Amino acid sequence: MSFTKLPESSVHGLWAARWIFILAAAGSAIGLGNIWKFPYITGMYGGGAFVMVYLLCVLFIGMPIMVAEVMMGRRARAAPINAVQKLAQESGISRRWGLLGWMGTLSGFLILSFYSMIAGWALYYVLLLAQGTFTAGTADTVKTSFDGLLANPGLMLLWHSLFMAMAIFIVARGVNAGLERATRVMMPALIVLLFALVGYAMTTGHFMDGVHFLFDVDFSKLTPQAVLVAMGHSFFTLSLGMGAIMAYGAYMPREHSIGRSVLTIAFLDTAFALLVGLAIFPIVFANGLEPASGPGLMFVTLPLAFGNLPAGALVGTVFFVLVVIAALTSAISIAEPFVAWAVEKGMSRLVAATIIGATSWFLGIFSILSFNWLAGDEYKLFGRTFFDNLDFLTTNILLPLGGLLIAVFAGWAMKETKVMKELEMKNQAVYIAWRIAVRIVAPLGILLVMLNFLGVL
Ligand code: TRP
Repeated sequence: MSFTKLPESSVHGLWAARWIFILAAAGSAIGLGNIWKFPYITGMYGGGAFVMVYLLCVLFIGMPIMVAEVMMGRRARAAPINAVQKLAQESGISRRWGLLGWMGTLSGFLILSFYSMIAGWALYYVLLLAQGTFTAGTADTVKTSFDGLLANPGLMLLWHSLFMAMAIFIVARGVNAGLERATRVMMPALIVLLFALVGYAMTTGHFMDGVHFLFDVDFSKLTPQAVLVAMGHSFFTLSLGMGAIMAYGAYMPREHSIGRSVLTIAFLDTAFALLVGLAIFPIVFANGLEPASGPGLMFVTLPLAFGNLPAGALVGTVFFVLVVIAALTSAISIAEPFVAWAVEKGMSRLVAATIIGATSWFLGIFSILSFNWLAGDEYKLFGRTFFDNLDFLTTNILLPLGGLLIAVFAGWAMKETKVMKELEMKNQAVYIAWRIAVRIVAPLGILLVMLNFLGVL
């Protein structure tokens, strides 16, 4: 049996410290998923019961899988495709497991294409708010602006291109001090602004409506699709199921606790999402808007709120700048597995990032057209546009499937001695709980949710 000694460092370098890994991973996790997606899907799927399923998924499925991803990445110190192959070899099992790495890397490539489009919208909103477009605006005027953007493919393409260029620029420079420093400044600022927004939401007189909407559990609203979406979102928001966190784990210094780091990252991400919900929904209700209005929620309700805040244009501009930065620190982590793999194959980072970015950018054009030229029913598949299908396929199918395979790999396929060596969990009870989660709870949970959705159960 061949045995390769696994490396102490990666060819891409290491994070300078444990807290930088935590911040980078939190930067990956906190993104459009928290600010744009969580509020609107919670709105669409009816609130409290949906939120509860999402929280359960984070706790029992998401966090154990995040531990598995970090463990696998750090043990192999390579991009996910190579990491899974190396670990399979180390444990003396089939190298075909590398397909798991490929599936994840491909999912990331697909996600990047539409993630950049949405982040592009946020970029455009920086400009709109800075111009005072929404000052003293009404629900009608903000809605008209957003609909105008969606109807204009050229405008969307412009901002999509700009965002993709920014993300690729950063990835091309490597996972290094530039990114780390930006994250360090911007993440706290984002949190401060969020608290300010929650504060504003408290003054609307509808704060408790928001609280009830988020936390009152009404199980009659839980369709199989709602449960699937809640689970898919728990993967999306924690950046799991495709190897982004695995790639970041590959750069984590050896001497730090994986378990505690994951706890911090998941806490930050979840708290962030809930706070965004507490900021947005009271504003929605105060203005008599529809919580189930879909992807436009952030681009309609927030500008409306800012337009009627003292100094709202300024605060709103800063907020959307920060949304863009949150999206940037996520987008680079979505691209990193593919780029790192190409670099390990001998390509220069610049070339790798450019090729991968350009192809993903091109694919993004079809998501852009989903809102205008290709919006008609004759272009829909399964009743959904190209964008809706891509989002559904990646978030609700590929990420959970990737997560399932990662759990099986870490729980059943890898040799336990290797796993334990990498995790070095001091607390036996925590280790056993994790082990049960990746071997049984997470795979079974994912399977049940998926089968239930397919109508088999
Ligand atoms: N978690 C990020 C968000 O919520 C998006 C993201 C970053 C992601 N890396 C990922 C999603 C990997 C899926 C897989 O916006």
